[in-house]
Amino acid sequence: MNSKDQKVLISTFEKEVYEGLTAFPKYLSSKYFYDEVGDELFQQIMALPEYYLTRTEYEIFNKHSEKIIQSFDTIKEGFDLIELGAGDGKKTKILLKELLKQKLDFAYMPIDISQNAVDGLVSTLQNEMPNVVVQGQVGEYFEVLDRLKQLSTRKKVVMVLGSNIGNLLHPRAIQFLKKLGSAMNPNDLIFMGFDQKKHPQKVLDAYNDKTGVTAAFNKNVLARINKELDGNFDLDKFMHWETYDPESGTAKSYLVSKEKQTVDINNLSLQVHFEAWESVHTEISQKYDDDIVKWLTKESGLKIVNSFSDTNNDYKNYLLAKA
Ligand code: AVJ
Repeated sequence: MNSKDQKVLISTFEKEVYEGLTAFPKYLSSKYFYDEVGDELFQQIMALPEYYLTRTEYEIFNKHSEKIIQSFDTIKEGFDLIELGAGDGKKTKILLKELLKQKLDFAYMPIDISQNAVDGLVSTLQNEMPNVVVQGQVGEYFEVLDRLKQLSTRKKVVMVLGSNIGNLLHPRAIQFLKKLGSAMNPNDLIFMGFDQKKHPQKVLDAYNDKTGVTAAFNKNVLARINKELDGNFDLDKFMHWETYDPESGTAKSYLVSKEKQTVDINNLSLQVHFEAWESVHTEISQKYDDDIVKWLTKESGLKIVNSFSDTNNDYKNYLLAKA
């Protein structure tokens, strides 16, 4: 048996870490920020004064929940509210309350990449809102999309909040929206949050907090490699670096090696060499405006049917349907 065949079961995490750290330039996916530690760090990020995204979406929901629910256009007919990347569901609870108030017949299906987040959300909902029918699922966006058709046979409203779509560059966002559309019936809807272009400094600050929580959040992918793949990253030898390009609207996060070093990842039998100041790209947080969203939906066979924004127009939730 040759050494390549010895390990038959290779997880996606192992495969992607290997690919990303042997590539040039190096990269690791931000989806690996989220485990128990990462979920807690993201909770702290959402509470940061600099991180305006959560608060503005919260504001939109508080102000417009009645109109938002009305725009779902589900009077009497039962429907499934599917949320991709549900996290702690704090904002969604506002909508769930409004749905109960309007006495609508619905089931809530939160889906998240973090088992920890789904378990937490399902149990708090059972306590706080026992009247809501909840069916939690763990999975990645693209993988879940394949199951979407079987998941729900009633009218579907698929939510992707928090500007989570921003983790995808436009070509992948279009691929994602197209796939979403192909799992939808003509009446189904998408309710999606898109963080808007704004003063570049405000964007930079949101991903560059002074307390270092965002840095720790990014470095959690290295911590996970240490824990789960028997790696020996020294987290202090890397720094978090953020850029924002107002032309493309793309905020990019990196971990930068502060010195020349070699890291062992034993479970991958891999030695990774870093030059001094070499980068590992970790995250995209795309910012949008109406024209970009219009273009994305058009390219994906969708159309905008409604939108809701905060008073500053820092953030918008769009209701999308098949074109
Ligand atoms: C949850 C992906 C929307 O990109 O704004 C927050 C994650 N990263 N701070 C974002 C994140 C750094 C967040 N999303």
